[in-house]
Amino acid sequence: MAKPKILVTGACGQIGTILVKNLRELYGEDNVIASDIRTTGTYDGPYEQLDVTDSNKLFYLISKYQIDQIYHLAAILSAKGEANPVFTWNINMNGLLNILEAARNYDLDKVFYPSTIAVFGQLTPRVNTPQHPNITPETVYGISKAAGENWCQYYHKRYNVDVRSVRYPGIISWETLPGGGTTDYAVDIYLKAVAEGKYTCYLDKDTRLPMMYMPDAIKATLEIMNAPKENIKVRTSYNIGAMDFTPAEIAAEISKTIPNFRIDYQPDFRQAIAASWPESVNDDAARIDWGWTPKYDLKMMTDDILKNLRK
Ligand code: SER
Repeated sequence: MAKPKILVTGACGQIGTILVKNLRELYGEDNVIASDIRTTGTYDGPYEQLDVTDSNKLFYLISKYQIDQIYHLAAILSAKGEANPVFTWNINMNGLLNILEAARNYDLDKVFYPSTIAVFGQLTPRVNTPQHPNITPETVYGISKAAGENWCQYYHKRYNVDVRSVRYPGIISWETLPGGGTTDYAVDIYLKAVAEGKYTCYLDKDTRLPMMYMPDAIKATLEIMNAPKENIKVRTSYNIGAMDFTPAEIAAEISKTIPNFRIDYQPDFRQAIAASWPESVNDDAARIDWGWTPKYDLKMMTDDILKNLRK
């Protein structure tokens, strides 16, 4: 079978950068077009500047490269989104609608849409959060992603668009930096631990959140996209879990390798956001439907990150 031609939006972001690398290894550099709002990408292979609210440019790129699949990662995250709610809604919502319209009009094979634990809110059970609970998001990011999940289901049912989605927890990486999320502390903490031996955390020490190491996030993304179509039974978005921990617990794990590591706590506005999110999610549906299993727990991830950062 011919290799698919893939467009990735938000390709300069924390996940996009690593996802493009993996997709290019699988499908070849020239078959994966990286795109981002940034005018200069750091990519050697094909790169296009793309504002996802610009449907003309999006449609032009799809024709130009004969695109079959889109991984639509461009979005503004939870903490940053609160600074400008209407702007965030526009990027997150109209960006997605342009992608879904493109999928319908150009008869694309598949679309990937990342959702998030931010779709949940105060009315959602916070421990082992079910697949289909009450969804009452409290950030504009969460509101846009919850609406986005429903648009995905709508385009699937009404136009047979094969759009697939997972609700990422906080994604932890050491090669690439997140931008503007509430879970970003779990990346910063490793960088500061290695560079300075100390970290000031903007969440309280007991704030438990679901988290995932980048290799597992990539694994989930590729696995749901490569699963047989009939296995994808949830057409809003799948819960996917890997680990959950508090700032105090991740600090304790780091201290096993860096004994003098010190953490202190100065909670800011992000504490209220985190407090509205689950502590852990139930991902049975993803496990049953397309075989999801994570590989990394907190200890394995910490060992891997610290080994790489200290190199
Ligand atoms: N990592 C995201 C955020 O904190 C959650 O999906 O905004």
